[in-house]
Amino acid sequence: MDSQIADRFVAVSPEILYFGTPVAVISTVNPDGTTNLAAMSSFWALGDRFMLGLSSHGQSGRNLARTAECVLNLPSPAEWEQVERLGHTTGRLPLTDYHRQAGIVHAKDKFGASGFSPLASEIVAPLRAAQCPVQIEARVLAQSPFSGEGSFLHFEVERLRVHAARAILDNAGTRIDIDAWSPLFYVFRHYFGKGKRLGKSFRARY
Ligand SMILES: Cc1cc2nc3c(=O)[nH]c(=O)nc-3n(C[C@H](O)[C@H](O)[C@H](O)COP(=O)(O)O)c2cc1C
Repeated sequence: MDSQIADRFVAVSPEILYFGTPVAVISTVNPDGTTNLAAMSSFWALGDRFMLGLSSHGQSGRNLARTAECVLNLPSPAEWEQVERLGHTTGRLPLTDYHRQAGIVHAKDKFGASGFSPLASEIVAPLRAAQCPVQIEARVLAQSPFSGEGSFLHFEVERLRVHAARAILDNAGTRIDIDAWSPLFYVFRHYFGKGKRLGKSFRARY
């Protein structure tokens, strides 16, 4: 019986391990004071904190390491094309071989390049991306040391303020209406919205 079950599986070597995570657009401040935007999917929540993974090739990780402030803008499926446009651009100069090989070009104005509109934050310096239905102002609590070009930087950030579009709130205007809200998911570099609700956790309060 065990061998019959084991026969259903084979060892595979996927090039990437992007089985599916929500997308965020991270806002950080460049050395000249302008806001950089970048698409990211390597992030997850733990209580009131987020763990973020950023490549050392990018400008966002450098900005976050320097300023310790960011906004995590959470797009819905309606914003996937703006997100994809961001994926082609870096705020970093000069470009590296990594950027040239990946087809990533420099863009100083990420709002103009993507189509997102800037909105002032209330606590941190980086601007919010107005079309994203959720925007989370956050500050860095801890980060991994820089271990060379091509490595990954890990950050633990704490939420300072969460902004939500009225359109995704319940009638009382206090909770996220989970029928109205859909994250944008990134699955092996393809974009998806949310599917049908399957059920609820015993810990769900509403
Ligand atoms: C949907 C999506 C998700 C991405 N996720 C990440 C990520 O989690 N971490 C990362 O370092 N790069 C990620 N990237 C790649 C960066 O967005 C890309 O390298 C970009 O040029 C970085 O911009 P920056 O150099 O201005 O920070 C992702 C790209 C897309 C389109």
